[in-house]
Amino acid sequence: ALQLTLAVIKPDAVAHPLILEALHQKILENFIIVRKKDLMWRAEDSEKFYAEHAGRFFYQRLVEFMSSGPMRAYILAREDAITHWRGMMGPTKVFRARFTSPDTLRGQYGLTDTRNTTHGSDSVESAKREISFFFPEFNADEWKSRE
Ligand code: CMP
Repeated sequence: ALQLTLAVIKPDAVAHPLILEALHQKILENFIIVRKKDLMWRAEDSEKFYAEHAGRFFYQRLVEFMSSGPMRAYILAREDAITHWRGMMGPTKVFRARFTSPDTLRGQYGLTDTRNTTHGSDSVESAKREISFFFPEFNADEWKSRE
């Protein structure tokens, strides 16, 4: 069965046209693109989305970074979409990504642990929450019934 996930291309990768295009091509090759949106967050959006990380040492820089420039969000569909996209991204930490998974998106394009090119939902529950955070008008049940 098709599964939905939320994928985000973060400001560091959107800022570089060649990297943005490379990431978009990889997404096209691997998923059905259900929705796609270019947007920019205010600091408040960033704080709300990452509320679970409040208090961590990287929280402030994460919040600032994620509201520092345009991003691109996608709702993606395929079998095991959540796991597949997370596998394509690679590890969060850029040092690990570079050396253990150089063929992943973060291994190839990640700059730092914060500026790590992409985000992906980590569970069915977070996909649901994150899809409605970025695409409040999207109705998953309606979309599935059309498939
Ligand atoms: P993301 O998958 O969007 O989820 C939380 C984000 O916090 C993560 O990607 C990174 O951008 C950031 N992050 C996680 N761990 C660290 C860290 N150790 N140092 C800096 N930023 C981090």
